[in-house]
Amino acid sequence: MKKIKNLLVIQARMGSERLPGKVLLKLGKISILEWVIRASKKIRDIDDIIVATTSLKEDKLIEKLCSDKGISLFKGENTDVLSRIYEAVKKKNPKNVIRITGDCPFLDPEICNQVLFLHDNTKADYTSNTIPITWPDGLDCEVMKFSALKKAKYNAKLPSDREHVTKWIKNNQNIFNIQSLICPFKDFYKFRLTIDFESDYKLMKEIVKKFSDHQPIPYLSIIDYLKKNPKVLKINKKIKRDVIQIKNVNKDIKSSAFIKKKFFNSTKLFNETKKIISLGSQTFSKSYINWPKGNSPLFLTHGQGGKVWDVDGNEYVDLVCGLLPVILGYCDEDIDYAIREQLNRGISFSLATSLEKKLALKLKQHIPSAEQVRFSKNGSDVTTAAIRLARFLTKRERIVVCGYHGWHDWFISSTSMNRGIPNQVQRLTHTIKYNSTKDLEKIFSRYPEQVAAVIMEPANYEKPKESYLNEVKKIIKKNKAILIFDEMCTGFRFSLGGAQSFFNVTPDLSCFGKSMGNGMPIAALVGKKKYMQHIDKIFFSGTFGGESLSLIAALAVIEKMEKEFVVDYLWKFGRNLKVKVNQLINKYKLNKFIKLKGYDPWILLNFLDYKNYTKFQLMTLFKSLMIKNGVLISNSHNICFAHNKANLETILNAYEMSFSKISEILRKGNLIKNLRNSRIITPVIQVREQLQKE
Ligand SMILES: Cc1ncc(COP(=O)(O)O)c(C=O)c1O
Repeated sequence: MKKIKNLLVIQARMGSERLPGKVLLKLGKISILEWVIRASKKIRDIDDIIVATTSLKEDKLIEKLCSDKGISLFKGENTDVLSRIYEAVKKKNPKNVIRITGDCPFLDPEICNQVLFLHDNTKADYTSNTIPITWPDGLDCEVMKFSALKKAKYNAKLPSDREHVTKWIKNNQNIFNIQSLICPFKDFYKFRLTIDFESDYKLMKEIVKKFSDHQPIPYLSIIDYLKKNPKVLKINKKIKRDVIQIKNVNKDIKSSAFIKKKFFNSTKLFNETKKIISLGSQTFSKSYINWPKGNSPLFLTHGQGGKVWDVDGNEYVDLVCGLLPVILGYCDEDIDYAIREQLNRGISFSLATSLEKKLALKLKQHIPSAEQVRFSKNGSDVTTAAIRLARFLTKRERIVVCGYHGWHDWFISSTSMNRGIPNQVQRLTHTIKYNSTKDLEKIFSRYPEQVAAVIMEPANYEKPKESYLNEVKKIIKKNKAILIFDEMCTGFRFSLGGAQSFFNVTPDLSCFGKSMGNGMPIAALVGKKKYMQHIDKIFFSGTFGGESLSLIAALAVIEKMEKEFVVDYLWKFGRNLKVKVNQLINKYKLNKFIKLKGYDPWILLNFLDYKNYTKFQLMTLFKSLMIKNGVLISNSHNICFAHNKANLETILNAYEMSFSKISEILRKGNLIKNLRNSRIITPVIQVREQLQKE
C-alpha cells in the first residue's frame, strides 16, 4: 500500500450552540460542508480526504452527505476533538495532517497550497496561517506532522487543548518548529468569513449571490467585493472573538489540570544559561531574583494579544507586558504590519530618515512640553540626556531625583545598588519624598544655586496632593532650575500626552519610552524649545538613535491609539480590575498587607510586612499562586489594549484562588512550609516604595 503523505481532515458536526446545523446550511445550491469539500479537493498533493464527525444521532446527516459524495467518514469523540482527529487519521499513519474546519466555505485552495509548501520547505512540525492573526477569519489552514498530533493527543490536558486540537502544539513552541504564513495585505485580518452566528450566514449568502456556487471563490475577489460594499461588510462586523474565548476560560479554570504547571524546561534552561549569563536575563526584573524560582517560569517563547507562553508550554495572561512596553498587545496586527513594511526598506541607515520628523511632529501634537524632540533607544538614555542638558544649561551640578530613572551613574548612585560608581558622582544626587515640597525646599536652601534639575515620575504609588506638582514647578522656577518629568511609565498610558497632560502641569523637559513602540526599543527626550535648541551642544548621539523599525512602530502605535481610543480602554479595564480586586482583598481580609495604589491604567500592588512575615515572603507566595492560576504578574497591573473579557475572567479567578489560599495559609500559620520549594524574591532596589510619604 502506498504510504500516505498528506491526509486532509475536515472537522464537522451539526451541533453548534449559536447556529445548530450550520455546516449543512445551503449557500447557493450546495451546503457549506460541500463548499469545504470541493475546495479541499483542489489543494495540491493531498492524498486523501476524510471528514471527522461525532457518533451523535444528529451527525447522521453528515454521514449521509459523505456517502453520497464518496468521501471517507470517521465518527468519534464529541467534545474531545483532539482525540477525534487523531483517531480519524491514525490508521493511515500519514506524514502530515492538514486540518480544515467544516464551517469555512470560502477556504481558498491556493492559500492552503502555500501553507503546505511552507511546511515542507521549512521541515516544520506545524504550519498555519492562523498565528499571528493576519488573514481573514475563515481561511484557516493548518498542517502538522502526524507525530506532533500524536504528541498532543497524549500530552494535552486542558479542556480547551482537547477541544481546539492544535492549541497544545501551538503553546509548545519550545519543542516544535512552528511556521506561519503571513498575509501580505494590510487590514485583511479584520474580515470575517467563518460562520458562528446568523449574521455570518447572511453575509455569506450575499457573497454567493454576487459570485456563484459553481466553484471556490478566490479570497481576493471576496475581499475586493466586501471593500466596495460596506453595507454587506457591516452585516457581521460587530462579532468579537472574545465570546468564544470566555467559554474556554471557564472550562479550563474548573479543570484540575489547570493548576498543575511544571517548570522543568525553565529550570533546565536557567541552569544552562547562568553559566554564560550569570543573571540568566538582561533585566533584573525579568530575572530569577524577581520571580519565585522553583514555582515560576523563567523563560518565555511567545506572546499573542494579552497572553504569553513559557518554555514549558504554560499559558499566562500577562500583567507585566514586558515591563510596560506592550501597550497594545503582543503581535498587534497593525503595528507588526507597519514594521514588516519598513523592514522591506531597511532597518538602520547611513543618514537620517524622514520618519524622525514625522514622529517628532506626532509627539509635538500630543505632549504639551514637546516643542522639540530627540530619540534614543532606552529610557535611561533620555533621562541621562535630560540631566546632562540641564547641567550644561544651568552650569550647576547637583540634581534631585524622585522615582526610578534608569541604570546610569547619576541616578543609580542614589540607590543601594551603587557599586562601581565614584563617590563624587553619588554626592551630587539628592532624593526627595513624593508629595513633600518641604523636602525639596530643604535641598534648594541647603545648596543655593547648585541644583540643576529635579527629575521626577509625575505619579506612581502615590497620587499627587492637590497642587503638589504645580508647587514643585513653582519652587523649581524660583530657584532657576529645570523640571524634568520622567514619563516612562505614565507616558501614553495616563493620556496620549502623558501625565503632564492628565494633570495639566507642563514640565521643561520630559522623557518617554516603554509603551511608545509596543515593544520596539524607542525612547524620546522632548521639551521646550528654549532648552532643547541647545541639545547639540552636549554629546547625545548613538548609532541606533534613528533606527527605523522602532520609529515606524511608534508612529503606528500612536496612530492606532488615536483611532481606537486606547487610553480610554486602559482606564476602563484597569478600573474594573481594581474595583474587583479590592473587593477580593476585603473579602479575604488581606487589606493589612496588600494595597492597590496609583492610577487605574497602572495600578501598583503595595505589599507590607505582616505579622512575622516579610513582604518578600508574602509577594513570593502571591506571585507563585497567581502563576499557578495562569497569570504572570509582578507588582502592578500593566494593562494592554488586547486584554479582553476572557483575560479578565482568568485574572479574577487567579486573584480569588490566590487570595483564598493566602488567607488559609495565614490562618494555619504554615507560610514557610508553603514556600519551601520557592526561592524568596529579592528585588535589587525598591526605589518607588521608599518614596511614599509616611
Ligand atoms: C520611570 C522610569 N524611568 C526610566 C526608566 C529606565 O528605562 P530603561 O529601562 O528603558 O532604560 C524606567 C524603567 O523601568 C522607568 O520605569
